[in-house]
Parts: sequence; structure tokens; C-alpha cells
Amino acid sequence: MFYKLNLLHGPDHTIMGMPSFSVSMLLVVLSLLNFISEAQRRPGQRRPGYPFLYCPEETTFTPISTYQSNLHDLLSSLTSNANRESGYYNTTAGQSPGTTIYGLFLCRGDLTPEKCQKCVATATKEIIEKYCPVGKVAVIWYNECMLRYSNQSFLSTMDDTPIRYQHHPQDMPDRFTQLLGTTLNDTISRALNAPSGAKKFATKEANYTDLQTLYTLVQCIPVLLSSDCNICLRRLKAFLPVCCNGKQGAVAMNSSCSIRYEIYPFYQLQVDPSRAPLLAPPAPGNVPRPKG
Ligand SMILES: *[C@@H]1O[C@H](CO)[C@@H](O)[C@H](O)[C@H]1NC(C)=O
Ligand SMILES: *[C@@H]1O[C@H](CO)[C@@H](O)[C@H](O)[C@H]1NC(C)=O
Ligand SMILES: *[C@@H]1O[C@H](CO)[C@@H](O)[C@H](O)[C@H]1NC(C)=O
Ligand SMILES: *[C@@H]1O[C@H](CO)[C@@H](O)[C@H](O)[C@H]1NC(C)=O
Ligand SMILES: *[C@@H]1O[C@H](CO)[C@@H](O)[C@H](O)[C@H]1NC(C)=O
Repeated sequence: MFYKLNLLHGPDHTIMGMPSFSVSMLLVVLSLLNFISEAQRRPGQRRPGYPFLYCPEETTFTPISTYQSNLHDLLSSLTSNANRESGYYNTTAGQSPGTTIYGLFLCRGDLTPEKCQKCVATATKEIIEKYCPVGKVAVIWYNECMLRYSNQSFLSTMDDTPIRYQHHPQDMPDRFTQLLGTTLNDTISRALNAPSGAKKFATKEANYTDLQTLYTLVQCIPVLLSSDCNICLRRLKAFLPVCCNGKQGAVAMNSSCSIRYEIYPFYQLQVDPSRAPLLAPPAPGNVPRPKG
């Protein structure tokens, strides 16, 4: 459920064997670019293996208020709808102006409904108990699901939730980065070509060496138009060389889309649809006819 400890994210993180000067250099860069929220920057709030968090301090609610009880309603509604096949659900709680809350969750596309529900149950519990107890606006990302709520409607699906990212400390040769580029292009195309109503999700593997395989995963929230999903994933892909150039594994995401790659399988391997037709007889009319 949590990110592997060997991935790097957050100021409190230390990497075994990595010289400390480069860690601090990286942290300076991270702070400058402001990719880490205020909440994560507070000491003690962010530890390795913890989920990614967006919890802006300027939007808080008063405890024991209508907003708080609406939030509880929202979270329990999300949890009880988390066993859906789609792995996605959005809802609202509260009617009166100023206390309405909009919320959604998205599970990683390969999860079973049972695992999805487990992740959402953890997220709804931990967000208010541990991570963002009085936040009106919050996003929390685990390995297997994302939970988001706000006092503002998500009708404009494009907003400025910052990109979160994390990467493995190990560098790989250029050839790996090239393979990553071509593979991710295919993975993105697959996600965009998913039938309407299906998850906007795809995975793809590629052989790097005889012994090493590259595993890639991309996903958009299903309500995004394919064109917006494409924009979102392309921007994240373009961001990878900025945050995580040449790294052996990385994840980058915001509340609309996510990209992750590793050299170990971190998702349930999918049946490759492009290989299945090879086993089926050719459709009549498409059979190449021998000339003469
Ligand atoms: C959401 O809450 C913030 C901070 O309390 C407030 O400034 C903003 O107007 C609220 N938005 C809506 C749509 O109620
Ligand atoms: C929320 O769900 C409704 C259908 O129940 C859908 O029409 C709408 O686009 C969704 N909105 C978001 C932001 O997911
Ligand atoms: C997510 O990031 C993409 C790429 O930067 C951006 O187009 C999109 O608006 C962002 N979405 C949210 C909800 O922040
Ligand atoms: C990936 O696709 C983009 C946009 O279609 C293209 O510009 C780029 O050259 C492709 N990259 C690779 C490595 O194929
Ligand atoms: C990787 O190589 C193995 C055999 O060496 C092959 O069976 C498999 O199809 C290849 N996988 C991909 C994704 O090309």
C-alpha cells in the first residue's frame, strides 16, 4: 500500500548509501520548486513510506461544525462505494452554501474491488486522523489509491493541484531512458484508446536486458476526456526528465493523472490484448492471398 522505502520523497527521507550533500542539494531544489506542500514540510509530518499529501494550511474548517459532519458523511459514502468495478466514485455531502463538500477516489486500475475498498478505507480514516485533520481541501495518494475532497466543485477537472513525485536513487544508462520514452508512448496510447466508459489505465512491460524488465503504468481519472488525459500524461512524461532523469524507477502524479515505472513488477500483470489475436484464426477477407 505504501511506497517502497527505497524511493525518494520528502525532506525527512534519508537514503542509505547516498552522500548527504546530494540529498540536501536535492531538497533545496525541491523546496525552490515548491513541489512539497507546507504540510509535508512540517517536521514529523512526513516520513519515508508515508503517503503523498496535499493539505493546504490556508483552508481549514472549525472542528465540531456542519462542515466536519458533512466531511464524515462524505468519507463514509466514498468508502461504502469503493467496491465498484470501476474503481472510481465521486459524490457530495451537505446542501447549504459554504458547507458542501465534493469528494472522489480513484483506485489503481489493476486492483480488485476488495483491494480498492481496503485502500479507500485506509485513506478516509488516515486523512482525518493522521494527516489533515482540519483541512477543507485535501488530496492523499497511496500506492494503490487516491482520495481527494474540497469545498469547491471538481467540475473544472483541470486545476493547480501540484505534481507530486518520487524516484529511486539509482541512475541508469541512456539506453534505459530511451526505452522508457518509447514504452511510455505506447502505454499512454493504450490508456487513451481504452473504450469509452472503461478505465483510463494501461500498463506495459519492455525487455531492457535479458535479466531486467521495465514495468510502466499510466492512469487518468475516468471522467477526463481522452484529449485532457493525453495532455495530463504528456505533461507528466515531460516532467520526468526534470524530476527524475535517468532514474531506475519513479512516480509522478497529480489529482488528474499518474505515471509510474520500475524495474520490478508493481502491478498485477495484464493479459496483453495485442498478443491474443495471434492465436485466433484470421478474419475472413483479411487473409492474404498468395499471388498467381
Ligand atoms: C472554500 O474555503 C475557502 C477557505 O475557507 C474559502 O476561501 C472559499 O471561499 C471556499 N469556497 C467555496 C466555494 O465555498
Ligand atoms: C461525478 O459523477 C458524475 C456521475 O455520477 C459525473 O457525471 C461527473 O462528471 C463526475 N464528476 C467528477 C468530477 O468526477
Ligand atoms: C495535473 O497536471 C497536469 C499536467 O501538469 C495538468 O494539466 C492538470 O491540470 C493537473 N490537474 C490537476 C487536477 O491539478
Ligand atoms: C513519444 O511521443 C511524442 C508525441 O507523440 C513524440 O514527440 C516523441 O518523439 C515520442 N518519443 C519516443 C521516444 O518515441
Ligand atoms: C521479453 O523477452 C522474452 C524472452 O526473452 C519474451 O518471451 C517476451 O515476450 C519479451 N517481452 C517483451 C515485452 O518484449
